Amino acid sequence: MTHFPDPAPAHGGTLINRICTPEQRQEFLDKADFLPRLRLDERAVSDLELIAIGGFSPLTGFMEQADYQRVVDEMHLANGLPWSIPITLSVTEEEATPLKEGMLVRLDDSLGRFVGVLQLTQKYTYDKVHEALHVYRTNEEKHPGVKVVYRQGPVNLAGPVWLLQRDAHPRFPTYQIDPAESRALFRDKGWKTIVGFQTRNPIHRAHEYIIKCAMEVVDGLFLHPLVGATKEDDIPADVRMNCYEIMLENYFPKDRVILAINPAAMRYAGPREAIFHALVRKNYGCTHFIVGRDHAGVGDYYGTYDAQYIFDEFDPLALGITPLKFEHAFYCTRTNQMATTKTSPSTPEERIHLSGTKVREMLRNGQLPPPEFSRPLVAAELARAMQIPQPSFEI
Ligand code: ADX
Repeated sequence: MTHFPDPAPAHGGTLINRICTPEQRQEFLDKADFLPRLRLDERAVSDLELIAIGGFSPLTGFMEQADYQRVVDEMHLANGLPWSIPITLSVTEEEATPLKEGMLVRLDDSLGRFVGVLQLTQKYTYDKVHEALHVYRTNEEKHPGVKVVYRQGPVNLAGPVWLLQRDAHPRFPTYQIDPAESRALFRDKGWKTIVGFQTRNPIHRAHEYIIKCAMEVVDGLFLHPLVGATKEDDIPADVRMNCYEIMLENYFPKDRVILAINPAAMRYAGPREAIFHALVRKNYGCTHFIVGRDHAGVGDYYGTYDAQYIFDEFDPLALGITPLKFEHAFYCTRTNQMATTKTSPSTPEERIHLSGTKVREMLRNGQLPPPEFSRPLVAAELARAMQIPQPSFEI
């Protein structure tokens, strides 16, 4: 049989699988009551999950110091592979002290349920301000990513992990498509080029425009909204999922899109997170990744296109996924269509664009975003979720 190389191998060459086999699981369950225990927060649980399902390949666990330091300082793992965000398990001194290197540690979720095991290989302290300044480009505590770093414990626990079992997602079971599965789906569909789209917002028309521009040149779209921890004022994942379903039902060809959830937590690290988001989508089997304006940004910490420029700092072959970069898109009232300054002769007054913050504010004040910003059916769903009077719409 001829062996064809995988057109989109996982980062590092092998898709990691750290989900226990039934035998391993039984072994850990038998030991469960005797192992030291750690309770993980929502982000750590989603990191554990993503390591286990291969979304963070080549990571097999929480980062040791050599990886951590090189990632923070140089955006590469100790072995030289690109990686831009530290994946760490940070705990308090009190939690760290009784744990000794070489031990197996039982990992529980925030409700105390046994979810995984860490084989502790290293404990180390780290410089939070240094991490903040390098990863988030700011040391201000009001940055939501920096806030998490400042509030977490001062000791990182490192080592390989196992996820006890892969449970169905409690809210979106049909959209839980893990990397091995998405890769198989792409293969079955015969897609050779797949563009990944990261989002933490309901899809508005600028999103739709850049997604569709990308779909014109690839075989399929992997619509991959993030449903892990986000900051408080972001639109909740279940409302967003309803909006994605409405978009796909009404405005996209069904056979060219796969909707799946990304269980990751948002870091709001702008440029660095764009690289990280791209690498995770590479692990899901994507060949291309959309990076628009202020990707994964928050407030005005990052320049509009910083998340695009950062790709120039990497060897494209080592990254192994191609960014598709889009300018700020808007509705152009001169040409009556979505556009960017690359395609529209409009003056600034002829451009309709609203920030996510502005839309959330409008919704809170009982106003609907205009059809030039949001498809009416999506606006109606947002109105329903935010409990503002329901307008009637025609598509
Ligand atoms: S993000 O935090 O996940 O980046 P969001 O869901 O708003 O936030 O964005 C998803 C993707 O769409 C990102 O790549 C972002 O850069 C892009 N994007 C959002 N709005 C626009 C816009 N008006 N023009 C161009 N790209 C945009």
